[in-house]
Amino acid sequence: MMSKQTRQVSQEQIAHQWDCINQIQHLLSVRADAPHFYCQTFGCQQNEADTERIAGMLREMGYEPTDDPKNANVIVVNTCAVREHAEKRVLGIMGQYTHLKEENDDLTICMCGCMVQQEHMAEKIKKSYPRVDIVFGTHALWRFPELLLRRLSGSKRIFDISGDDRGEISEGLPVLRGQGCHAWLSIMYGCNNFCTYCIVPYVRGRERSRKPEDIEREFRELIAEGYKDITLLGQNVNSYGKDLGLGVDFADLLARLDKVPGEYRIRFMTSHPKDASDKLFETMANGTHISHQLHLPFQSGSDEILKRMNRHYDAAHYRSLIQSAREKMPDLVLSSDIIVGFPGETEEDFQKTLEMVRFGQYDILYTFLYSKRSGTPAAEMPDSATKEEKQDRFDRLLAEQETINAARQEAYQDRIVRVLIDGTSNSKQPTDHPLTGRTDGGLLVMCRGDGLKLGEFADVRIERTSLRALYGVEVGNG
Ligand code: 5AD
Ligand code: SF4
Repeated sequence: MMSKQTRQVSQEQIAHQWDCINQIQHLLSVRADAPHFYCQTFGCQQNEADTERIAGMLREMGYEPTDDPKNANVIVVNTCAVREHAEKRVLGIMGQYTHLKEENDDLTICMCGCMVQQEHMAEKIKKSYPRVDIVFGTHALWRFPELLLRRLSGSKRIFDISGDDRGEISEGLPVLRGQGCHAWLSIMYGCNNFCTYCIVPYVRGRERSRKPEDIEREFRELIAEGYKDITLLGQNVNSYGKDLGLGVDFADLLARLDKVPGEYRIRFMTSHPKDASDKLFETMANGTHISHQLHLPFQSGSDEILKRMNRHYDAAHYRSLIQSAREKMPDLVLSSDIIVGFPGETEEDFQKTLEMVRFGQYDILYTFLYSKRSGTPAAEMPDSATKEEKQDRFDRLLAEQETINAARQEAYQDRIVRVLIDGTSNSKQPTDHPLTGRTDGGLLVMCRGDGLKLGEFADVRIERTSLRALYGVEVGNG
């Protein structure tokens, strides 16, 4: 039984979108040349996955993908609002795209995603970017065919940033995934946590989980299509299922997917420490296909700051989680997010963050300078540290992590690791390691060996390491 909170978009509404897709296909069929679309994505993996849905709809309409915005008849920019820097970059790029309209009046420019879901941003686009045709927020993504058809049929500019606090889940619309063996699979949308610095809950709405059977169906399709590295996505996967009322939690879902036969890996992100459990770590440790990789953002090592961030755990609890996860998975690859310069952060608070970094021994750290987001509680909090002090902390954090990172990478020397060969080196210099692969934990390995094949698993021996990558040779090949 679905709880009152989460609604599924009705089958009639989905059928209507398919009808709009077909009508656009009909409109385009009279053209002499093939129309093209160009998508650009800012921000997180969830946005990448959303763009794949938009691309899927566009391809069904009859548009072909292009890498060159100048060749496009439809441009879609999927935006991010997490930090100010991303918003500025989006506005810069919109200036360039809207110029393209001077030479090409058969161009429809669309903006979607988190940044434009904010009312003040939608207003800004309305006033300052008159050549943007369609602006639609995160809640309207599934209505894209309807919006595009209206605009192509002569409607005036469209702004659809209506929100729905209960949120909706849409199933049954197409997806165009990137080439290669990796696929994103969204298992839930939205966030209920309201960390005080974060804009996400305001722009993506409340948590809503897809039904386990819908996820499993898509998962099986991916395996059947040959995808071998599948990342389950959610803002906080650890609260998966709470809104469904089925008694199924994230660990149950993982265990269910892990039973699907085949040669593949499952990863997931992001895990909020307040909901991470021993049950999850046990499921990971006992799984057949589940990567021993955990992204567990701690944000700050100071209990005082964590409280003001509304994170609902303290440093001691976080440490106990890492200890438990490492006990169950000694080969765990661990990563985290950290915010430096949260309002009121003192040098003493920052020292606690450094201590946590030393304790955690992370393989990968994503470090961010705090960015004020209007409408969030932290934007109103008093701040004393100067920009220079914050930058200095940030630099010291990077230096600390670099030392840890080097040691962790060096520890792989001469070890044999299983990798999935997923691409070719983009190095401009001639290289003796022409292929790229990922370890079970997601670490990058540059590989060599005559028997290695794209899209296949192989054992390689690590012959050297750097901060950026491991370098491996196929076992039995030198
Ligand atoms: N400023 C800086 N970093 C932020 N993040 C979220 N909001 C902000 C902000 N206002 C970071 C957090 C989160 C990651 C996705 O982005 O570390 O985990
Ligand atoms: Fe933002 Fe916190 Fe939700 Fe992550 S858990 S999306 S940081 S509010």
